[in-house]
Amino acid sequence: MPARLAADLLAWYDRHRRDLPWRAKPGARSEPYRVWLSEIMLQQTTVAAVVPYYHAFLQRWPTVAALAAAPVEDVMAAWAGLGYYARARNLHACAKAVADGHGGVFPDSEDGLRELPGIGAYTAAAVAAIAFDRRATVVDGNVERVMARMFALSDPMPGAKKRLRELADALTPDTRAGDYAQAAMDLGATVCVPRNPRCMLCPWRGACAAFAAGTPERFPVKAAEKIKPVRHAATAFVVRADGAIWLRRRAASGLLGGMHEIPSGPWRDGAWPGGAGTRDLPAGLDFVALPGLVRHGFTHFDFEMKVFAARGGPALPGEGEWWPLDRIGDAALPSLMRKVVAHALKSSSAPGRLSSVRPAASGAARRSARAARRG
Ligand code: ADE
Repeated sequence: MPARLAADLLAWYDRHRRDLPWRAKPGARSEPYRVWLSEIMLQQTTVAAVVPYYHAFLQRWPTVAALAAAPVEDVMAAWAGLGYYARARNLHACAKAVADGHGGVFPDSEDGLRELPGIGAYTAAAVAAIAFDRRATVVDGNVERVMARMFALSDPMPGAKKRLRELADALTPDTRAGDYAQAAMDLGATVCVPRNPRCMLCPWRGACAAFAAGTPERFPVKAAEKIKPVRHAATAFVVRADGAIWLRRRAASGLLGGMHEIPSGPWRDGAWPGGAGTRDLPAGLDFVALPGLVRHGFTHFDFEMKVFAARGGPALPGEGEWWPLDRIGDAALPSLMRKVVAHALKSSSAPGRLSSVRPAASGAARRSARAARRG
């Protein structure tokens, strides 16, 4: 039965596989560097968001040795906007480990890959299967959903993960490991989708317990939803007369580690309390509260930032740098901080010339747009 299911899924994949830039032509094997790069980018990020970054990285750093030789700050800046920034730091550390410790060649087994920085169970299995055609059980969120429906597993997530992995392992064939792994992920991404699954197009419909029960959307069963806490902070958007803005670098570890930021006061519990809220801003500057709030969802909390703008110079207390607004796309600014910049620029209450200055597109987006124009 598992062999029949694998054969049916592979036949479906041969006809309906997504045309993704890191995939080799049918019958060929993808370069390990490309597979690894794409798999790290795809963790917690959609294919649509990843594609321009993938092109930009490959164009700038075509080999693992080139990536290893790059300053980590450049890698962080090129990653800006993709989120989960520890991935970028680990990406660079992993490139260095492969370049320096393995002669620029990725290990070809799950165990060998697991020893590299930033490579966990999922990535090791994906690279082993896709780049080296090793039998490996590759389980991402899409595959978990497919398995939960195939077997109508009633255990709630996340406790069900171990069982889902066992079920996925039992269906994994010994041959065409990379194609099978990607087929299972494609099935979850395009057919066995969370809402309104397209069961009529599914090669596994005949064996699917949730389809037979008429309730595919019930699976995977979720644990009771936790309400996310809210946090808030006051942000100091300080602009010099020439349009440069004051940026700081965050500590290397922790949330948004190593990325640039518009300086803010402490991130406090609760929603933005209203009122002037200037107690957390640097003294000695004439701040204007910009209307509205910048909101951003992190994995474990929702965040509200109140932006205060001021004219400043020659320097601000603490470590930081003046960054020309027309080169803001080259800063390592995470999405939250880009929202702050956009919010300040569109606010008619911001001081002086601000609203007439337009930031350039991000480095990665600009480079990929250039690449796309070249075809
Ligand atoms: N999600 C993460 N990696 C993938 C891949 N190689 N194919 C399809 N979906 C994926």
